[in-house]
Amino acid sequence: MDNKIVLTGIKPTGMPHIGNYLGALKPLIDLSQNHKTFMFVADLHALNSVHDAKTIKQHTYEAAALAIAMGVNMENTILFRQSDINEIYQLTEFLMNVTPKGLMNRAHSYKAIVEKNTMANIDADSGVNMGLYTYPILMAADILLYNSDIVPVGKDQKQHVEFARDIAGYFNNLYGEIFKLPEPVIGEDCGIIPGLDGRKMSKSYENTIPLLAPESELKKKIMRIITDSKTPAEPKNPDESTIFQIYKFFANEQEVAEFRKMFLDGGMGYGTAKTILFEKINSVLSVPRAEYERLMFNTDEIDKILSNGAERARIIASETIAKVKKAMLG
Ligand code: ADP
Ligand code: TRP
Repeated sequence: MDNKIVLTGIKPTGMPHIGNYLGALKPLIDLSQNHKTFMFVADLHALNSVHDAKTIKQHTYEAAALAIAMGVNMENTILFRQSDINEIYQLTEFLMNVTPKGLMNRAHSYKAIVEKNTMANIDADSGVNMGLYTYPILMAADILLYNSDIVPVGKDQKQHVEFARDIAGYFNNLYGEIFKLPEPVIGEDCGIIPGLDGRKMSKSYENTIPLLAPESELKKKIMRIITDSKTPAEPKNPDESTIFQIYKFFANEQEVAEFRKMFLDGGMGYGTAKTILFEKINSVLSVPRAEYERLMFNTDEIDKILSNGAERARIIASETIAKVKKAMLG
């Protein structure tokens, strides 16, 4: 364990798929095994697009239950709900005043909307609320409030962490060394996990396998993986097979080597290969799935964990706010 503080926010957007898990969630869970970790459900970040409290609340429970069930190290981790910490609203407001508007104009996610609107010949800012526009400032506040050193993120979020670092720099230049400069860490690249149709697994392609789907759904999805038309007898290329590409991430080295050989040797039909994949994933995920389902039936238990986490997070948050207030207002 080094002394670096890891921080991450999980946006409550419903059950992640296997690609999200391997690409984004698993690296976080791994880091929590040997670092002091702040992990929160970023419910405030959902507000700019989800205008329904019930949905946000339900997805917040799901995100917390999933993190716990998938094995976040709860000894090292303070798990909480972003909106439970009043200091986050305060720090966001303070940071507004040192953040150049031009920085927000350069945010990839905002720029993408502007480009799309411009192409469609409608007002450039159509559909953009201030929550979306200032999203990176809220995220900078998340990161700076808890003195984070390391912020593990997917490639899509890297710019936001760089913004947090820039904003910390602007602040420190004006008011002295109050904030640590956080570093984005892109998790070990697992490559692109293919979906059922062989393209990148993605919600937008509707080709996903939900991480903790009920067993029957998991089986149905895996049986739908698209394959070529090789007969069972023919040798097959594992590196071109979605079945093998997914299997690799759930099995141990020896199992992977054996499965690879079965592809190369021929004699195994795709139906059999899919059954082997299903059984592997199911055996790895059945315990976390049961724990997830148990927690979702006992949301009081999740509430307790989150409020206990909030109490601990608030201690650090209030120290930061005291320093910032003093520096800015005297
Ligand atoms: P989607 O494409 O399903 O909308 P997101 O863009 O919300 O997924 O991705 C969230 C995170 O999950 C990203 O940080 C990305 O690194 C990871 N991720 C998503 N899909 C995959 C995939 N097919 N393979 C590897 N990582 C993925
Ligand atoms: N914006 C991140 C996402 O969309 C979630 C998030 C919010 C976050 N605050 C954060 C991630 C702070 C890392 C650090 O996935």
